[in-house]
Amino acid sequence: MARADSGYTRYHLEPLLLNELVSEVADINKNLGNRSIQVDATENIEAVVDRDRLKQVLINLLDNAIKYSGAEQPIELIVERIDKQAVIRVRDRGIGIPLQDRGRIFERFYRVDEDRARTTGGHGLGLAIAKTLVEGMGGKITVRSTVGEGSEFTLIFPK
Ligand SMILES: Nc1ncnc2c1ncn2[C@@H]1O[C@H](COP(=O)(O)OP(=O)(O)OP(=O)(O)O)[C@@H](O)[C@H]1O
Ligand SMILES: [Mg+2]
Repeated sequence: MARADSGYTRYHLEPLLLNELVSEVADINKNLGNRSIQVDATENIEAVVDRDRLKQVLINLLDNAIKYSGAEQPIELIVERIDKQAVIRVRDRGIGIPLQDRGRIFERFYRVDEDRARTTGGHGLGLAIAKTLVEGMGGKITVRSTVGEGSEFTLIFPK
């Protein structure tokens, strides 16, 4: 991350089909874990991204979706086009993120309520890394969440 901050991270940007990449990441996860991941990525949606870095971002978001939701709850990965932008959503039906924390979760080392965080483990870096990488590729990351119902992280890449 320090390398990315100092401007030394090189991004290998190339046009890629996001629906294929997202399906690949979901498959990796299916082979490793036992969580149900629903993929809604039928349409071919292209964006100019760095394949490995975007994979890292999706893995960080999936890791959170898995950690902060019940084992029996589904996780959804959605790829869609909105206006001219390519959009990826990672949605869970987990514990959610309180409004007062939502603005800070992308900061380094920030974890919601250390009490609840202690049981899951982690350093509070996954989302900071995700934000740095997404913005480094020219995209944006946003979150919507309802406590007790779930969270949705959205990645937006300009066409
Ligand atoms: N999908 C989610 N549902 C509920 N809370 C979340 C979710 N994703 C992130 N959070 C909250 O935001 C905090 C920051 O997330 P982040 O991924 O940066 O750190 P982490 O998961 O705690 O640790 P690390 O990713 O370094 O292993 C988490 O500690 C958690 O409280
Ligand atoms: Mg994390």
